[in-house]
Amino acid sequence: MNMHVFPHFLRCLVAGASVWACTAYGQPAGTSFPAEHIALGAKLYADNCESCHGPRMKAPGGEVFDLRTFPADQRSRFVESVSNGKRNMPPWRSLLSQEEIGFLFAYVVAGERP
Ligand code: HEC
Repeated sequence: MNMHVFPHFLRCLVAGASVWACTAYGQPAGTSFPAEHIALGAKLYADNCESCHGPRMKAPGGEVFDLRTFPADQRSRFVESVSNGKRNMPPWRSLLSQEEIGFLFAYVVAGERP
């Protein structure tokens, strides 16, 4: 590890992120999204996802995944599940662009977490 990265790595650990997230990204996962991406994601969420996952991701419970617990370091899983669907969730790839799914990811992992 070089001396430029090292102080950031320590700050990252102090901030409570896992060692893996700190080394992989150089900053805590899920904190690096532009505010406008989160806002666009929130709008897409309200239009497409809220009916099942609940307002502001407060899921009604049962079979529907609680999106507030989705791991911020699993972007490819998010894109895969949303694009292709998963069990009772329909696929979204013909309705949403990859860019829009990226905005949704920003909202899900950074939009409603303190
Ligand atoms: C018709 C209801 C419905 C809608 C609409 C819906 N979902 Fe889901 N979603 C589900 C259900 C049910 C699951 C749980 C799937 C399972 O059995 O694991 C799920 C699971 C997920 C998961 C977790 C997948 C995983 O890898 O475990 C993500 C992420 C997700 N939904 C995102 C979205 C997003 C983003 C939208 C809007 C574009 C959306 N969902 C719209 C029903 C829905």
